[in-house]
Amino acid sequence: MPGDTNDEIRASLREHLAWWGLRHVESDAAYFAWQRDVFSPQELTTLHRHIEAKRQATDGPAAEIAFYDLTAQPRSVPALYSQRYEYYLEVGARVAGHLGDASTILDVGCGIGILTTFYAKRCPASTIVGIDRSPASIDLARQRAQELGLTNVRFECRDVDQQDLAGCFNLIIATHTLLQAEQEPGLPSRDWSTFARPADAQAQQGFERRIGVGVRLDRLRAGLTPGGRMVVFEKTRQLARRIPFQRALAARGLRLLAPPEPVRYRSVEEVTDDGPLYVLGAVPGEQALSWDEAPEADGMPPLDLDSLRSARAQGDQPLYENHQISAEQGWLSLQAKHVTAQVTSTEPDGRQLHVEWGRAGAFAYLYCANTFDQRQLVLIEPARAAVLETYYREITREQPAGGKEPLR
Ligand SMILES: C[S@@+](CC[C@H](N)C(=O)[O-])C[C@H]1O[C@@H](n2cnc3c(N)ncnc32)[C@H](O)[C@@H]1O
Repeated sequence: MPGDTNDEIRASLREHLAWWGLRHVESDAAYFAWQRDVFSPQELTTLHRHIEAKRQATDGPAAEIAFYDLTAQPRSVPALYSQRYEYYLEVGARVAGHLGDASTILDVGCGIGILTTFYAKRCPASTIVGIDRSPASIDLARQRAQELGLTNVRFECRDVDQQDLAGCFNLIIATHTLLQAEQEPGLPSRDWSTFARPADAQAQQGFERRIGVGVRLDRLRAGLTPGGRMVVFEKTRQLARRIPFQRALAARGLRLLAPPEPVRYRSVEEVTDDGPLYVLGAVPGEQALSWDEAPEADGMPPLDLDSLRSARAQGDQPLYENHQISAEQGWLSLQAKHVTAQVTSTEPDGRQLHVEWGRAGAFAYLYCANTFDQRQLVLIEPARAAVLETYYREITREQPAGGKEPLR
């Protein structure tokens, strides 16, 4: 147990997930077939209606609570929660590795307690509290903890947006709880040519208020013992969400105790956009690391113009195409650039979009960039430059080009 290697933690987490009836599903087809075996067509329609209502909700948490209540029925758990199998494995194992010797642990937004009960098993000498605002989730968590014979964990139905925490904790865990609002785009960069966000108190407050993360963090911070730690994993992979989230943490005196850990996993077949995992401490300190506001490396090899010069186009494919952050480096490295046309516009939602096309030495190029960190660079032979011109016109008129998504 304490001192277990990561492999040992993962092996016991796999056993725990199996006890909950969860299994790893390889394909979307197999996953949806399993759902159709378990649920009637009417039940699936109701489920999808709840998912949509949760996604669209702008008037408080009722739709979200109704969704989590619906999914917390014992019969539904294996077929619904197995979608998150890899999430539980990747996130749960990492969090378990950070439990240390905390004597009082809070798991905020614990859901039905799948991971909370795992942490409680691993820390028999600690007191663990799981809180959630979905009553049915809390009922199921209590039932399962009893079946597991756990006496060191209790579950409370509590909304951290509405109530202070009851008590203080040496460790607070928040995974997929604080920043659930998937529609929230975050804060734009200063302009299309940079990833930097100037400090702007009003914009920061707006972000924290829109998704409620400010209130949540204030309450959690107040419930942390002096020197206490937090382990946090949220949907913050996009820089526009990561930067204001990090600033919200830092503004509450939470400091980084370890480098943020990128966590990659799939939701059945879909690669998800989460993380990183933060280990934070409420300690004034020199041991704290500084926050990184740079975009994540995207793994694309640097643009090699020399080898592109001798490359042959494959059919109607461009010589080079990059839709990642590193497209900007490629664009900056272009030599003898001659811009044929360019436009910088402000979209109805406030984001700034820049598009340009032209010649750069032996290539024709098109480059797009916006203030939500999207970048795109396309290079082709000059003989086919008309293709880029058409693409340029389509983007600047905001029409999809030949099945490609224009930057938005
Ligand atoms: C996606 S689930 C994550 C569950 C669990 N933390 C995990 O990692 O699997 C989000 C949970 O957070 C709960 N939640 C969201 N906002 C909350 C709030 N303000 N107070 C208490 N629970 C909340 C929801 O009810 C839901 O059960």
